[in-house]
Amino acid sequence: MSFDEYKKRIKALKRLDELETIEHELFGRKNGALTLCFNNLHRLSPDKKRQEASTLNRVKHDLTTLLEEQRERIQGKSDGSLSATPFDVTLSAPAHDCGHLHLIPSFMTQVEEVFGRMGFDTAYGNEIETEEMNFDLLNFPPDHPARDAQDIFYVKIPNLKKDASKPVLRAHTSPVQLHYMQTHKPPFRMICPGRVYRRDADATHSPVFHQFEGLMIGENISLADMKGVMIAAVKELLSPEITFRFRTGYFPFVEPGLEMDIQWQGDVKDSREGTWLEIAGCGMVHPNVLKNAKIDPKKWQGFAFGFGVERLLMIRHRIPDIRLFYEGDLRFLKQF
Ligand code: PHE
Repeated sequence: MSFDEYKKRIKALKRLDELETIEHELFGRKNGALTLCFNNLHRLSPDKKRQEASTLNRVKHDLTTLLEEQRERIQGKSDGSLSATPFDVTLSAPAHDCGHLHLIPSFMTQVEEVFGRMGFDTAYGNEIETEEMNFDLLNFPPDHPARDAQDIFYVKIPNLKKDASKPVLRAHTSPVQLHYMQTHKPPFRMICPGRVYRRDADATHSPVFHQFEGLMIGENISLADMKGVMIAAVKELLSPEITFRFRTGYFPFVEPGLEMDIQWQGDVKDSREGTWLEIAGCGMVHPNVLKNAKIDPKKWQGFAFGFGVERLLMIRHRIPDIRLFYEGDLRFLKQF
């Protein structure tokens, strides 16, 4: 085929694959028509060689220019009219991986919603508290074992006044009861989700974990009200089929004090209680705590409760090890 015929073919081509075929026929490394001509140059005498080479170079230049023009035309066209590489505009876009809230904060939001519907305000306290707020004003006696450095994190703050109460990482959300009572006038109901710290670490205990505290103060509030609120919430947060029981328990800041257990057949076992799992402490707010918050215990009374968040989630989703919550393993996180 003469180079003029190639030119005609190039001018007539319509698609990129046709262009590539011609390009290969001309410039292919082994058998390209032009390549072969160039390879044969060495057979010619020096004069002829020079002449022929300049002709070939001109031809090569013309053909490549023509090919480039055609390539631009075809590609330009494919952008504008979609005809060169047709695609189906009605197809759905490819799915994008999309992040979402971690199980714990998303559960906290659910807690706020469930209690919000029962008229509970949401409060947030401080993660660094004083020993006074974490223990003394909650009616803990000075020799209570929870104050032991084995159980709680004391925080070193330089230049702290000698007589100041020692700073600690709060061991529970109960100090928020005091903050709330000191800044609000009863009657009120509040819920407080947050992070708490204890010196514990194994498959069911983490040094940092989460609780949510509830507090309801009014006139004529009783244990029956407390049970009603807690049962309604647990049914909504875990399952309407849940079996539960209340048994007496000791916490210095409530009197009487109770613990709420639920019956659980799943993987998380409470070694002391078989299939009964403790999920909350609760009770009627101790009169001393009300007094410490300048609320008259003769006029006002109410209840408080504190739930362990990881415990509830381990039950709800059959999560065998508490450390899975904090490891950031996508295989775990993507399941929720
Ligand atoms: N603060 C208690 C704990 O961390 C739980 C609790 C809260 C008990 C409120 C009674 C009332 O174990």
